[in-house]
Amino acid sequence: MRQSSLVVVANRLPIDDSTTPDGACEWRRSPGGLVSALHSPLRQTPATWVGWAGGTGPAPALPDVDGVRMHTVPLTADDLRDHYEGFANATLWPLYHDAVEQPEHHRRWWEAYQRVNQRFAAAAAEVAEPGAVVWVQDYHLQLVPGLLRALRPDLRIGFFLHVAFPPPELFMQLPRRAELLRGMLGADLVGFQRAQAAHNFAQLADRVLGLPATDHRIAVDGRIVRVGSFPVSIDTTEMTALVERPDVADRASRLRRDLGSPEHVILSVDRMDYTKGIEQRLKAYSELIADGHVKVRDTVLVQVAVPSRERVGQYQILRERVEREVGRINGEFGRVGEPAIHYLTQPFDRAELAALYRIADVMAVTPLRDGMNLVAKEYVAARVDDTGALLLSEFAGAAAELPQAYLVNPHDLEGLKQGLLAALRARPEQVRERMQAMRTHLRQHDIHAWARSYLSALDQDSTLLSRLGTT
Ligand code: ADP
Ligand code: F6P
Repeated sequence: MRQSSLVVVANRLPIDDSTTPDGACEWRRSPGGLVSALHSPLRQTPATWVGWAGGTGPAPALPDVDGVRMHTVPLTADDLRDHYEGFANATLWPLYHDAVEQPEHHRRWWEAYQRVNQRFAAAAAEVAEPGAVVWVQDYHLQLVPGLLRALRPDLRIGFFLHVAFPPPELFMQLPRRAELLRGMLGADLVGFQRAQAAHNFAQLADRVLGLPATDHRIAVDGRIVRVGSFPVSIDTTEMTALVERPDVADRASRLRRDLGSPEHVILSVDRMDYTKGIEQRLKAYSELIADGHVKVRDTVLVQVAVPSRERVGQYQILRERVEREVGRINGEFGRVGEPAIHYLTQPFDRAELAALYRIADVMAVTPLRDGMNLVAKEYVAARVDDTGALLLSEFAGAAAELPQAYLVNPHDLEGLKQGLLAALRARPEQVRERMQAMRTHLRQHDIHAWARSYLSALDQDSTLLSRLGTT
């Protein structure tokens, strides 16, 4: 087995097996923010990515992706049901997102979570060279840092949570809260998207485990674990290069024409997830049409909602409700050749997404809770001419960094409607000023800066114990 000095461990590999309509297996980029975030900084580094390739059955042997070695961890049908769909996405995911849907607790799911975390830890231990850095990602694998440390105490271990981390009142509901915290504390550095999340974690370590934090450091079993916030970002250079490509400009012009050359295009791009506030947004939009504030003739909404976690009950219900509502709005307000909402559920390649960002006069990103939301940042990076208004939920991590967006509370329907109108009617100078400020921030805080800041903080850990005099 070849070993690496840098190992990334994530539930998903950057490519997954998507079966085509004719039954053939096709390798495609995996959905979601985690892959978008890690793809660029890892490109051409001598790293190994340990993860699941989608599907069940034996682990396929995959070629390197952009110079990064793929090490596949297999999941059985039971693992998929009880670990991925169960504990990860029907217990932790709703709980971490303000319990906007009811989290479920089943002992069988917890057993699967432990079993799968153990498998990932063993795989990471196998491919990490002596003294390597292992960077564990996200809520599916919270036990891995602790399990890996037991197997390989020589490693430097980081953990980063891409999603929101809840306040103690919510986290305390978890029957296995102590084990989850202990698992994360197996890392040398525990990173979150926001300072508030890091604070929540430190409070919980104290309350549940009796391990108080001093100056973002927690002493555990004779080690020091550091806790911090590292807001994830995007590859702004890559997005800028993409939108400036002539073929993307052509696609954008064609798209606008195909939409009937409207005065305003509003765009939303989400995974089909109940945390994304899709239903609330559709309601606000349909009320604006019904009230006569928005005319379907000159304004169109493009809603991209790529299906996600399709076997989880709450996701199936959401998709049915969204599709019913889109049908109702189009039936009520659309005209022949002029739907009120252009609804698309397909995955797009990066160039097509860039073309969509290029034509969006208003980008509506209104999740009920989101760890960060990279779509909001991608839109800002794509607006190379400083035009375009970003309507952004206060409950997205990105709001802390992009206060110049039109900020809204998506739970407040009237506020959401007013925010959308304000973004649609904003004066060009005002839009430009806001966009310039957001673009300046993003240029300085791109994905490479994020990876550098996390990994250099993780590296410092070797000197931490001596500096603090703790053994
Ligand atoms: P999450 O991680 O919850 O899915 P983010 O907004 O942080 O949310 O990240 C979503 C990522 O997935 C972005 O990089 C976005 O460009 C990408 N994405 C979203 N919808 C699509 C789609 N239909 N096709 C391709 N990529 C998509
Ligand atoms: O960002 C949250 C997250 O769960 C990531 O881990 C993942 O990239 C994305 O959402 C997509 O989710 P899934 O891996 O369940 O398709």
